[in-house]
Amino acid sequence: MLLGVNIDHIATLREARKIHDPNPLEAVFILHNAGASQVTLHLREDRRHIHEEDLFHICANSPLPINLECACSPEIIDIVCSIKPHRVTLVPEKREEVTTEGGLNLSTPYLLQTINQLKAHDIDVSLFIDPTEEMIARSQSLQVDAVELHTGEWANLFAMAYTNLPRMHNTLKSFPQDRSILKAQLDACLENLKKCAEFASQSSLQVYAGHGLNYQNVIPIAQIPSITELNIGHSIIARSIFMGLFEATKEMIRLIQR
Ligand code: PXP
Repeated sequence: MLLGVNIDHIATLREARKIHDPNPLEAVFILHNAGASQVTLHLREDRRHIHEEDLFHICANSPLPINLECACSPEIIDIVCSIKPHRVTLVPEKREEVTTEGGLNLSTPYLLQTINQLKAHDIDVSLFIDPTEEMIARSQSLQVDAVELHTGEWANLFAMAYTNLPRMHNTLKSFPQDRSILKAQLDACLENLKKCAEFASQSSLQVYAGHGLNYQNVIPIAQIPSITELNIGHSIIARSIFMGLFEATKEMIRLIQR
């Protein structure tokens, strides 16, 4: 199992002060030394964290391959094609969201043109999709290289069932409060992820997963045989505040390669 580490939140911290520190490029070398396989970053239309100069410097200097997440926006795609990361993961994007909320709508305008433009620039294309067989079949017909299965539902159910989130101000009000119901839904969610990962792999797609994965909930996902890579950001950067990015990354690698 490979680990891609999403470093957007290093830039989030920098943007909190609107200065030059901390520098996401510095993280890339630490991730490399810690054994990560890839650096993931998201160039958002509102540039709330990563800016194109980050993408430029990181692509020019990183010893690790770069997985760039972005929306199907012609302005962003033109920038990306000029900088040429190794892979682009197309994601949905809403200005008002805190983080990527769901999988990509495969009826998004310009999707096929965007995929073809990226491929013409020798950039691998992955689609961040909700885990359903329909989304996988449609992704295959778009002739992309890979899909990344959205694990947000797994993460939310896990947090409501097994942490103190239900008693906090950030509780997820739309979820059941009854733990036995949450656990049953969690089991069903895992079975669905396994089934979808297998289906995608049999459809000749590379299969990745991510969103909301952390040190508590990652092991069952890491044990799904058809998934070859996890992209994880928030939990690793959060833990690195207390134990440093090198140790936080190594700890995650140890868990997912168990
Ligand atoms: N994969 C994709 C496609 C994402 O959009 C994100 C969030 O930016 C992640 C993985 C990482 O999610 P998290 O920060 O919750 O680990």
